[in-house]
Amino acid sequence: MDLQLKGKTALVLAASKGLGKATAESLAKEGADIVLGARNAEILERTASEISKKFGVRTLSIVTDVSRAEDAARFIETAVSEYGKIDILVNNAGGPPFGKFEDFPDSEWEQAFQQNLMSTVRFSRLAVPHMISAGSGRIINIISLSVKTYLENSVLSTSMRLAVVGMAKMLSNELGPHQITVNNVAPGIMLTDRTKETLFKHMPPGKTEAEMLAERAKDIPIRRIGRPEELAALISFLASPIAGYITGTTIAVDGGAVRSIL
Ligand SMILES: NC(=O)c1ccc[n+]([C@@H]2O[C@H](COP(=O)([O-])OP(=O)(O)OC[C@H]3O[C@@H](n4cnc5c(N)ncnc54)[C@H](OP(=O)(O)O)[C@@H]3O)[C@@H](O)[C@H]2O)c1
Repeated sequence: MDLQLKGKTALVLAASKGLGKATAESLAKEGADIVLGARNAEILERTASEISKKFGVRTLSIVTDVSRAEDAARFIETAVSEYGKIDILVNNAGGPPFGKFEDFPDSEWEQAFQQNLMSTVRFSRLAVPHMISAGSGRIINIISLSVKTYLENSVLSTSMRLAVVGMAKMLSNELGPHQITVNNVAPGIMLTDRTKETLFKHMPPGKTEAEMLAERAKDIPIRRIGRPEELAALISFLASPIAGYITGTTIAVDGGAVRSIL
């Protein structure tokens, strides 16, 4: 299927590794030019140049901490001055720490608020006027399966992601008349650095990484952990003109892990 993404400008945040990188690659494979943001300049630049070499598209890396308002403003300004338009915005950020409710003081809540909610608010608010003047646009937020099912130790993530779901629904209504769609994608467990760090942090003696992965996947109907490109494929579809009638939704990519029927 031709996703008709050739020549589109896609902004992908937290894009140097993991789900963000897989998304940037997937959109580039379809012919979109990519503006990538993350904090570590060296890794970001390496990812950007890898993508432009591999897929023959234009890439631009802008060092950005998505939790900072000034970085968001500079990112959008630079992207627009270099590319002249924003067709697609993929909001993504590092995940907040895992832990119990009583573990987190105000400072951790504030950090999660800035990184996982306000980043989505600010980047969307800055991108929307450009999409409105173009008469179309796609906003896709990478959140988490914790908005659909209980996920142990995810109080910061769950709280912020549910606010993103609410905001996206409001935005999808306001922006629908401008042919701008707003959707969330909710990954279950996908094999990225973040997952490896969490999963392999406390290795029981004698267990191999492969055994740990198999154990973690035993309750997932598909019986394996997801691949980042499996989430990215959905994002590319939602970013395409073909998905113009899908808006205001949250779609899980979880190997069937959520057991609720509706
Ligand atoms: N992987 C999963 O199974 C899974 C499941 C559900 C939800 N999620 C969520 O999906 C998101 C991505 O996860 P991942 O597994 O891809 O993580 P990852 O492999 O650790 O990659 C994180 C990426 O985000 C960037 N980043 C982190 N904090 C940032 C910030 N403040 N500003 C800009 N860039 C930032 C990192 O680069 P720098 O460090 O250089 O900035 C890196 O490129 C997270 O919010 C995570 O909670 C992941």
